[in-house]
Amino acid sequence: MLAAETKVTDVKSDHASKSDPARSWKIIVEPVEPFLQAVTQQLMRQAREFDPQIVPYAEHALNNSGKHLRPTLVALAASCFGRPDDAHVKAAVIIEMIHLATLVHDDVMDEAQIRRGSPTVAAKWGNEIAVLFGDCLFAQALKLASSYPTTEVCRAVSLATNTVCSGEIIQTQQRRNFVAARRDYFRVIEMKTGELFTLSCDLAAFLSQATEEQRAALKEFGAAVGTAYQVYDDCVDLFGTEAEAGKSLGTDLAKGKLTWPLLLAWERAEAKDRASLEHAIKEWQPKNFPMINKLLAKYETFEPSVREIEKYLEVARRALRGLPASPGRAGLSLLTDYLAQQTSALAVQ
Ligand code: IPE
Ligand code: IPE
Ligand code: MG
Ligand code: MG
Repeated sequence: MLAAETKVTDVKSDHASKSDPARSWKIIVEPVEPFLQAVTQQLMRQAREFDPQIVPYAEHALNNSGKHLRPTLVALAASCFGRPDDAHVKAAVIIEMIHLATLVHDDVMDEAQIRRGSPTVAAKWGNEIAVLFGDCLFAQALKLASSYPTTEVCRAVSLATNTVCSGEIIQTQQRRNFVAARRDYFRVIEMKTGELFTLSCDLAAFLSQATEEQRAALKEFGAAVGTAYQVYDDCVDLFGTEAEAGKSLGTDLAKGKLTWPLLLAWERAEAKDRASLEHAIKEWQPKNFPMINKLLAKYETFEPSVREIEKYLEVARRALRGLPASPGRAGLSLLTDYLAQQTSALAVQ
């Protein structure tokens, strides 16, 4: 059904759109819009599969307010090899559900109030419900993953989920520990965020019967973009606005998650500032925000963070060379430009 409906048109890099993020995003997703609509519909159908007493949580979490980055990646990666089909849609639904489960749990840990412009599951129904409902979402996603004729999808989804949660655990172990966080920052974000981006690209390639080389190129792309995206998200937490992001910000500081700009400030700081920074994180209070902001500015941490994002985006762009010229490859390339553009936009927020 979807294969016939999905019309993937060629996408050319449009530099004029660089000043308008909404337009840039529209150009990226327009060719795969029917795919994304099918994903949205199937997510709502999944929500109704839960016990009637769970359905309200599922409908709240699975509604259509996320950016659907990972489903977009599945669609574009599949479009490197032809038209995405129903098997790709199912993979996108599974990955989005796993992503949501991790967000429901992450919001419990971060005590976040707002997600996708609405109250978090935890804020609305409490931590106990949120933890258990997150477990239900993982289970539902794995059930769906087991419905392919091959066990490969379920295996890949299970492994990736393990990696994501392990990344979250290691980050939690290293809270307020500047030395350990500095050493492991990129490894941890590649695990907790890069992994689902990698999985999105990899499963799309697998389901399209791509060659091993093409699969490897797409996995490299996914890991690099996902890592860049988490550095960007970490910058949003410090330099962005809640109105733009649609979610609670500042929770990284409050929870002692040491992100790249903060680690840079710590590394560059003279002894007195370093001690103040360590103290402010160890004995966190919201009134510490202005001092932290001052140190982030004093040690010019934004520009090198942008450079780090650019470095990963360049790795991603290089990986695309291993793929056939196609609408999908063009779309993935535009996605890297879009992320670079969103990062620069943070400077003026
Ligand atoms: C949020 O992911 C968590 C991170 C990995 C930074 P997204 O920014 O993709 O969140 P949604 O799905 O659009 O809400
Ligand atoms: C990403 O970390 C969470 C996961 C990968 C599960 P964040 O804590 O930075 O995500 P947000 O900012 O709450 O969306
Ligand atoms: Mg969080
Ligand atoms: Mg964040």
